[in-house]
Amino acid sequence: MSELRFVVALAMVIGISGGMFAETPSELYQRRVVPLLRSPEGSSCSACHMQGMKLSDFMNVDPRASFASLRARGWINTESPGESKLLEFIAKTNATSDPIHERVRRAELDAIGEWIRSACQDPESLNTQLPELRDLTLDEALIRHARKDQVLGRFVDVIWSQLERCANCHSPDRNAKQVEKNGASMSWIVPKSPGETLQLLENRKLIDLAEPGSSLIRAKALGHEDHGGGVKFPEDGHTDRQWSKFIEDYAAIKNRRYASSDQIPSMDSIATWRTGLHLKIQGLSQVPSGQFGVVAMHRIHRSDEGRQMEMVDPKPVAFGEGRVSNDGTSWGTTLCLLLSDGEDRTDSGTDEVTGREDGSLDWRDLLTDGKYQLRWVLVDDPSKSLEEILKLAPDSFIDIDGLWAPGHATAKSFRYTDFQRWKSQRRSTGP
Ligand code: HEC
Ligand code: HEC
Repeated sequence: MSELRFVVALAMVIGISGGMFAETPSELYQRRVVPLLRSPEGSSCSACHMQGMKLSDFMNVDPRASFASLRARGWINTESPGESKLLEFIAKTNATSDPIHERVRRAELDAIGEWIRSACQDPESLNTQLPELRDLTLDEALIRHARKDQVLGRFVDVIWSQLERCANCHSPDRNAKQVEKNGASMSWIVPKSPGETLQLLENRKLIDLAEPGSSLIRAKALGHEDHGGGVKFPEDGHTDRQWSKFIEDYAAIKNRRYASSDQIPSMDSIATWRTGLHLKIQGLSQVPSGQFGVVAMHRIHRSDEGRQMEMVDPKPVAFGEGRVSNDGTSWGTTLCLLLSDGEDRTDSGTDEVTGREDGSLDWRDLLTDGKYQLRWVLVDDPSKSLEEILKLAPDSFIDIDGLWAPGHATAKSFRYTDFQRWKSQRRSTGP
């Protein structure tokens, strides 16, 4: 705020010495503000807002009408022009602001600051009739949804959280052999940088804004297009649905397709994070091939009531999804942590799970060793939300004494016959 006051004061001094009073507010507006509204560099707002937020949405070539409309929004403080909300919006910066944003922002702050000050002293501008307020109501939910930090947060939750599945072959810090064999286009992950990765996926059209549904990043992961890396997760499963939703939503924002927030599709409320733990079940001949199955992993606690009783936490900590192989002999997957609510992001962008926000979360910090119960759930309708799936009654279960080493080579493997039928389970399942 003090910086803002300084810049506005400076703009005023420059304005006065440059002959501000020789010019009417309207002339000043035409000379200094209109070119900014038309500038191909866009407006400073787009550094943080992806859709529905640029100065030309609120101001046009008519200075009086623009002034009245900004006042009607409450964005101009006629008593104390330097504290106008519009100038506060323009003054906003964040850690990732780039030089272009900085230049645009300074230019807007100078020119619009000067214009607001002069218009606030101009009886004609002040006397212009204000438009009807309700026409100007902004859709705050849409503004929020299209904010860059929110978009990036969803990218981290939905796609970045799964990229360990792809990193060995597609991250430049690990894929030298793959690049040698298949070319430089193998690298499309920017290590440690979800923001740059999303931009790169868009630039390379691996996320296709024109035809989001056939984006290569999804098609390859599902093994649709012959994929050198095979099938990474099952079609129509939770991960696939989330990826599709993110990609469609991202394209809608980028193409400015949302007119109001009720067009925004609802996301699944559970966020997941891929661990390095691989799991295999073999000898599933009783289960139809292609059957969709989920394993939910529950922690087993020792009850503290003094007796040697164990309790299975009713809330799972991790899950894995997949389809039984075509020959009906096996099912395999990687486990994903179940994180807290994905939609519940606060405005400040903080998150109770450290590292999730910037993509640096390490699953090993959240999944401690100990006893677990793995519950095998048969899912006839994979289009159910993960929340619903996790409420289905399990088919069978198995208890394990501890975690195992991450990596394909050390996958934990069970035979289906090792599992006990769910109905024979006698142990208390906790409160
Ligand atoms: C540096 C990032 C950043 C920039 C640049 C930015 N905003 Fe925002 N904007 C935010 C954030 C974050 C919020 C959420 C509320 C908050 O934290 O202040 C927000 C919220 C809003 C809101 C809705 C809530 C409110 O405070 O009324 C409006 C309207 C808005 N911004 C308009 C603009 C306009 C117009 C511009 C350009 C002149 C702009 N913003 C530039 C980050 C930014
Ligand atoms: C074991 C190695 C391996 C893994 C793991 C792997 N891939 Fe691939 N991927 C390949 C190979 C090899 C190619 C090149 C041949 C082809 O296009 O299928 C490729 C190509 C791609 C391409 C096309 C890149 C381009 O621009 O040409 C995309 C997109 C892709 N994979 C997505 C994924 C996703 C998403 C994941 C993780 C969910 C993944 N891959 C995991 C081996 C892998």
